[in-house]
Amino acid sequence: MSTIDKIQELKKQRNAVILAHYYVNDEVQAIADYVGDSFYLSKVAASVEAQTILFCGVSFMGESAKILNPRKTVIMPDMQADCPMAHMADFEKIDKMRREYEDLAVVCYINSTAELKTRSDVCVTSSNALKIVRALPNQNIYFIPDGNLGRYVASQVPEKHFIFNDGFCHVHTSILAENVKKAKEAHPKAEILVHPECTTEVAELADYVGSTSGIIDFATGSQAEEFIICTEMGVLYELRQKNPGKRFYLAGHEQFCPNMKRITLEKAADALENMSNTVEMEDKMRLLANKPLERMLELGS
Ligand code: 13P
Ligand code: SF4
Repeated sequence: MSTIDKIQELKKQRNAVILAHYYVNDEVQAIADYVGDSFYLSKVAASVEAQTILFCGVSFMGESAKILNPRKTVIMPDMQADCPMAHMADFEKIDKMRREYEDLAVVCYINSTAELKTRSDVCVTSSNALKIVRALPNQNIYFIPDGNLGRYVASQVPEKHFIFNDGFCHVHTSILAENVKKAKEAHPKAEILVHPECTTEVAELADYVGSTSGIIDFATGSQAEEFIICTEMGVLYELRQKNPGKRFYLAGHEQFCPNMKRITLEKAADALENMSNTVEMEDKMRLLANKPLERMLELGS
């Protein structure tokens, strides 16, 4: 039996549904029931009926699914697949900022540990951050952990005061403005599509800045035939599926998330077979981390 057949069989036996992020390997995206950006996947995780969720992504995604849907069994193909940026903020600075600014909102990118979420007022993803930050009554925003997404949001919401954190995504910051310019010289008609985890210099070159879904939707709706893609290369799978006649170029050489790429079909099949790698969390932490996630779903919908 092929691994794909095995997964389909185990899915039925375990009453499982497979969620996958656009950055995982193509063959994993191909077998998933739901593929999408972080906001879409968190909405699916919160509402899905199947008893088991196999989350093909990195740790914070599985954790968020468990927080939002605690009665479900959430399993991960590889527990070592973790997003380094999710850890790049510290509690002391959060406490310090809360002391300094009376009306502070701690806005936490969903790419964060459950522990960081427990200290935050609201979560955001790259597709809803602008909407949510604008909707907050607070004037002072401490944006964690991603400095680049924070700076992008600040550039679009100039009426608020932002404090930035120094977290970053090593995949997106490896995309250099000079390489994007070179790609544009080589393909002058191409539109430049940028994820907001990229640096400000790269975002300033963009024809469009948005989440992975936003990038896919923009390219699909655009009249242009060529695009320079400034995000993780996994999006090329869906971009090409939806746009077989269009051409997509990468701007850098390292647009590859080693953690997302740890997810393989074999590991997905093993996790389903053994019901191993379950995401567990104490109730106290789960309840605290749930608050900013629920607030995101409420303000972002
Ligand atoms: P989105 O799919 O929400 O754009 O997130 C990008 C990302 O880095 C996920 O790890
Ligand atoms: Fe984290 Fe960047 Fe990988 Fe996304 S692409 S999981 S932000 S390291």
